Amino acid sequence: MKDMYILGIESSCDETSVSIVKNGTEEIATVISSQIDIHKDFGGVVPEIASRHHVKNITIVLEECLQKAKMSMEDIDAIAITYGPGLIGSLLIGLEAAKTLSFLYNKPLIPVHHIAGHIYANSLVKELKFPLLAVVVSGGHTEIIEMKDHYKFEKIGGTLDDAIGECYDKVARVIGLEYPGGPKLDKLASEGKDTYQLPIPLRDDSYNFSFSGLKSAVINLAHNEEQRGNELRKADLATSFQKVAVESITSKVKKAIEQKNIKNVILAGGVAANNGLRTAMKELTDKMNVELSIPPMKYCTDNGTMIAAAGYYAYKDGRRADLSLNSKSQDTLR
Ligand code: KG4
Ligand code: ZN
Repeated sequence: MKDMYILGIESSCDETSVSIVKNGTEEIATVISSQIDIHKDFGGVVPEIASRHHVKNITIVLEECLQKAKMSMEDIDAIAITYGPGLIGSLLIGLEAAKTLSFLYNKPLIPVHHIAGHIYANSLVKELKFPLLAVVVSGGHTEIIEMKDHYKFEKIGGTLDDAIGECYDKVARVIGLEYPGGPKLDKLASEGKDTYQLPIPLRDDSYNFSFSGLKSAVINLAHNEEQRGNELRKADLATSFQKVAVESITSKVKKAIEQKNIKNVILAGGVAANNGLRTAMKELTDKMNVELSIPPMKYCTDNGTMIAAAGYYAYKDGRRADLSLNSKSQDTLR
């Protein structure tokens, strides 16, 4: 079969990214323009500011990516775009760019769900083997998805309230770490001892998660210590929090592996960069004799590479969009 080059565009949050991927597995070139420094002063992503920067960046990032790949739009076979979920104003900028390119150069337009992108980041490392369990952990999602084949997604559990990344960022803020706090909290956790008692969320028979209780417990603990004039041992609190957060994921994954007789597990999403989670998932899957795939750090947070990779499999699954495609701030992965 002829090689297929897909151009992937991602702009769902605060990264403007364009990438070219060959046959869903081989990264040719990627450019990512991150707005982290811009949103830092606000303690989180400001949607209006994010979309304005996407407008400024999108054509520059696109041109840079083509130059890096030494390719032109004529060499591209199809355009994959994150249509959702995400910040609506941010999504719209990438979508309009993708639609314009599709119309101008007469290339197929492939709609990609952001979470499908995170999952397929793994196919840039090794071939996905089915049936598999995808553990999706990001700033907006915490889900366990069973896949019996390419592009066949079945959600078996998810968070009932906050996403794990959101919880990391909020707890980090309480401890006084700068946005985005997740990676900094992860680092601090490696420096402390597990001395604080925190509640283990949702110990039930489902594959669901809950993080709001854990978040509130940390906030209350920090306030109580402050009121009593006690010093908050930040590193220890980070260690205790990370232990509970990670355990709440691994306990449900363990149950799903046992009950669904799974042999392959993949980790996906921004929080897949978390060292505590990576280590715990490795230990668990080694013990259970299950294969684990974790994307390298550069594919964990938002990027166009994962969208182009997912786009290839979406294309093979017959998925196409026309110029009426719209952005969706929320949408079920299917
Ligand atoms: O997937 P992503 O880039 O954006 C979404 O689609 O949400 O994930 C971003 C999230 C943020 O909440 C960030 O704090 C978290 O992933 N994150 C981490 C780590 N690296 C990124 N959380 C914990 N430990 C990390 N090392
Ligand atoms: Zn993401």
